[in-house]
Amino acid sequence: MTSAAILVAGSANLDFVVRAARIPAPGETVLGRDFKTFPGGKGANQAVACARAGGADTRMLLALGRDLQAEPLLASLRAAGVQLQVRTIENVATGTAFITVSDEGENAITVVSGANACLRAQDLPPLDEIGHLLLQLESPLDAVTAWALAAHAAGVQVLLNAAPASPLPPELLAAVDVLIVNEGELTVLAGAQGSIDEQLQRLPVPTVVVTLGARGCLARTPQGRFEQPAFKVSVVDTTGAGDTFCGVLAAARARQTDWPQALREAAAAAALACTRPGAQAGIPTRAEVLMRLAC
Ligand code: RIB
Repeated sequence: MTSAAILVAGSANLDFVVRAARIPAPGETVLGRDFKTFPGGKGANQAVACARAGGADTRMLLALGRDLQAEPLLASLRAAGVQLQVRTIENVATGTAFITVSDEGENAITVVSGANACLRAQDLPPLDEIGHLLLQLESPLDAVTAWALAAHAAGVQVLLNAAPASPLPPELLAAVDVLIVNEGELTVLAGAQGSIDEQLQRLPVPTVVVTLGARGCLARTPQGRFEQPAFKVSVVDTTGAGDTFCGVLAAARARQTDWPQALREAAAAAALACTRPGAQAGIPTRAEVLMRLAC
């Protein structure tokens, strides 16, 4: 390994996924089919994406219940080569997510945080060997803020995927080096007024990356503004595509890849993730990403 390790601190959920012709409207019942469970959770998905992208050791801090749901989550992270620091929470269930995926591959997700809600500021492991810390918002906000502040003070690069959308305390934003959001999350953080570029300018973070779905992504960085079109694929399931983007982007930056190439790799990986069912099950390896980039 050539780079300092990447630490992902965040959530792990068992995803209960049903495919249906469409996502039900409020008050509506639709008949689903193909029920399956998959390892998921934004934190664990991003850790698997980092590990499959290679280039740096990937570690993860997570919390699980002492139950059967925890087992496939541990197995998936271990199979990907993620080194784990697990807090086992007694009498609290492992996190779960209830997901409907439509025939167009779009999803609607409800998360029951369970053990994920029990992570605390003091659970952060020593940062001596860590170069990058990757965070999301499925863990308690006070813990996420404390982790970001500790890492920033230690000279670790802090990447925050501000998902699910939530307003953020200014002290958290001040500790973030790279903020990754989709358009909805950008609007929550920067307000709806003006163009995307104007929204990006309002955020007091050195680098902001906004993912735009089928329109690709855009980054405002200290090295300049970069646009990356989306790779065209046949979409099966978009669940975990954003997490794949974040994990692969973090791995590329840990390899000291420049922004345009890091965005290309992340966009290609996210597109490939959309061609397969399941969150972690759909995350491509580095070899698959490089093959897609060579096409
Ligand atoms: O981003 C996708 C993930 O969101 C799913 O795996 C689900 O567990 C929720 O955390």
